[in-house]
Formats: sequence, C-alpha cells, structure tokens
Amino acid sequence: MVTTKAELTFKHNLNYGRHGWLRLTPAYSVKVVHKILEENRWIRHVLDPFSGSGTTGLACAEQNLNCDLLDINPFLIWFAEVKTANYSEAQCREARIITREIAQKLSEPNYNNELWMPAIKNIERWWPATERALLAGIYDGIHRRFPERTPVSDILLVAFCRTLIEWSNAAFNHQSMSFKESGPSLFDYENRSVLLENYLNLTDRIIESAASYIPGRVQSRLADSRVVHRTQGRLYDCVITSPPYPNRMSYIRELRPYMYWLGYLKEAKEAGELDWQAIGGTWGIATSRLAKWQPEGEAIRHAGFYLMIDKIAENSPLLANYVHKYFVDVVTHLHSVKQILRPGGKIFYVIGNSKFYDTLVPVEKIYADILRQLEFDKIEIEALRKRNSKKELVEFLVSAEKL
Ligand SMILES: C[S@@+](CC[C@H](N)C(=O)[O-])C[C@H]1O[C@@H](n2cnc3c(N)ncnc32)[C@H](O)[C@@H]1O
Repeated sequence: MVTTKAELTFKHNLNYGRHGWLRLTPAYSVKVVHKILEENRWIRHVLDPFSGSGTTGLACAEQNLNCDLLDINPFLIWFAEVKTANYSEAQCREARIITREIAQKLSEPNYNNELWMPAIKNIERWWPATERALLAGIYDGIHRRFPERTPVSDILLVAFCRTLIEWSNAAFNHQSMSFKESGPSLFDYENRSVLLENYLNLTDRIIESAASYIPGRVQSRLADSRVVHRTQGRLYDCVITSPPYPNRMSYIRELRPYMYWLGYLKEAKEAGELDWQAIGGTWGIATSRLAKWQPEGEAIRHAGFYLMIDKIAENSPLLANYVHKYFVDVVTHLHSVKQILRPGGKIFYVIGNSKFYDTLVPVEKIYADILRQLEFDKIEIEALRKRNSKKELVEFLVSAEKL
C-alpha cells in the first residue's frame, strides 16, 4: 500500500545537517537521492536540471560524486552553491566571531532601529516590530562588514535566512505558506535578548554543519531547463531531479521573504516575471499571460490528454491552459535533456500527480508516454508515497534509459 511517508519529504531534511539549512516545501528528501545512488552504483556525474534547494547536489557530493545543478531562480542558485561549498576552520571561526559582534551591538539599548528594510508588501504581517528591527540590524551588520560576497558572508546570510523564517508569522500548514496570528509580545528589552540568543543558536548550528567536509564537486548555474542542451557542453550519465508538479505551487511566492531581504526581488512585478519563466508558474502577471496562452510545438501523445484538458476547461479555461502549458514545457525540457545524455544514460524524475475539480491528471503516465514518444527505453513508474489525505494524490519516481 502507498502511504504518506514524511521521511520522503523536505521534513526529513530539517534535522539533517546542511540539508536542513532552508525549508523549501517542494524539496524532496535526501533519502530519495540516496536510494537512487545506492541502486545505481555506476553513477559518477549527475545533472539536476530543477535543483531547487540543492538536495541532489549535496547528497551526491557527500558521497564523493560530482553534480551539476541548474535552476531558473537566482536565489536558489546562490543558496545551492553556498550549501555545497567547503569552508575552512578559519572561515567558520570568523563567522562565529562576527555573529557575536553583531548580536552584541544589537543588544545595546541605543542601537539604530531605522535601517533599510525590503519593500515586501505588508511587511508588518510577516514580522512584528522588534523582529523586523533586529533583522534589519543583522542584515546591516553583515553588509557593513562584507560589502562584497565572501564565503563567510555567505554562511552568515544563510543563517540570516534561517533566522528570518523562524521569526516570521509564516505558517507552513498548507501546501505552501500562510500567516499565523502573532502571540502576545514580551517587553521589548526581554524579547530582544531572547531573539538574539535564538539568532546565535541558529547561526552556531549552521556554522557547525558548514564545517563538515564535502568531497564531491558541485557546480550551480542559472539556466532554463527547457533549453538545457544550449548551456551544458558535456554528456551526462544520469539525471536525478524533481521538476515542478502541475499543482499551482509558486516557488517565488514561498521564497519571497528571502528573495526580498537578499535583494533578488525589489518590487512585486519582478516576482510575477520570474514566476512566468518557471515551469508551472501562475503568480501575478503569470496568470494573465496564461489566460492568453496558445499551444504551439509538438502535440502531447497521451491517450485522453486533450479530453482531459477540455474537461478541466469546462470549469476553468485558465487552469486548462495551465495544465496544457505545463506539459508542453515538459516535452520541450525532456527533448532538450535527451540531447545531453549519453547513450545508456538514465533519468530519474520524482513527480506528483494532481487533481483539478473531478479530473485527475495522471502526471506519471503522461511523463511515461512523453518519454516513449521521445524513444526512451526501460520506462518505469514506481509509487513513492501518498502526498496527503486525498488518496489519489501520490508521488512517483519515473525512470527511463536513453537508447
Ligand atoms: C520541485 S522544485 C525542486 C526541489 C528540489 N528537488 C529540492 O530538493 O529542493 C522545482 C524547481 O524547478 C525550478 N524551475 C522551474 N522552472 C524551471 C526552468 N524552466 N528551468 C530551470 N528550473 C526551473 C524551480 O525554481 C524549483 O526550484
């Protein structure tokens, strides 16, 4: 029986050293990657064309395998790079000292609490006033010390990201995130020292795992995986990845607090533009562009595909376009990835099915048919876990071999 296995989701990663540095709801568990690597000991060099928080890269590099990571989101590319780098003892020591200097300065009663804050809409919903002021102080402290990016500033910024999400009112009880009510506040002075203690603890934990040595080499690159053959100049023996699912999850929406603070987003309209570039993006301007989208390129050869699209369109033409465009993008991607796979090379895609109104979208079967259409061999579908209480929603591993 397929059951809800939390150990196969990002939740497993949260207590797992560097894998727990940042929560990304759609991140898969490092266990999935370990299992694939264990069962395929011939793998030497992996490509993850939808690398997100870099789970595949770190899992490979920890086992002394090389891995190339691609993602369309510049924040995630920075993050994956930092998560998979090696840090010297001296760099970790310096990060600890600077964290203490920053915390010390912010514990003084007359610290400057009118520092720069990002233009996130309704920022007061995200963080209460004391947390906001302290975050601005930590960010300012890091930037004064490091006007340019260095390995130490990278570690400090990851710890800053971890802190900002711990202190936020964001509730992760849905597929992505919503806001919880903030609880009663302590007196400001007391509250500040509790928060700063928490900042020091979180940062120490990150520095401790940053000190672990990673033997494999990881390269992260900002790229659109629909045209991966244009950017990657080598042949791979293996692709391990988890592409977006057609479930209307917006990565930009979930990542916006980090992206605003770290300067990857400056205004709301940039978020919609970025989401439009992502496969399955539907946020902001992406929605109105989707409404006008017209299919072009290869037809999708899965029996019943167009009937399914028409059925969704009876309830929502927009969602029908969404699902249709998703699979057109998947065909373009798989076509492209095939060109950089060596003969006999294997691909492993972790992917979830979805449901719109009463129409189940059998994503795993459509992937398998697209792979057949592209003349892949040994196509297999394995059910990994149930995604939630709805019994039809399942996560699958779809694998195949290039002839
Ligand atoms: C399901 S997530 C990957 C999660 C990852 N396995 C992890 O453990 O964090 C899918 C990723 O695909 C990226 N993405 C979406 N469209 C893309 C495209 N056209 N090219 C490259 N990456 C894309 C998103 O930014 C997101 O990070």
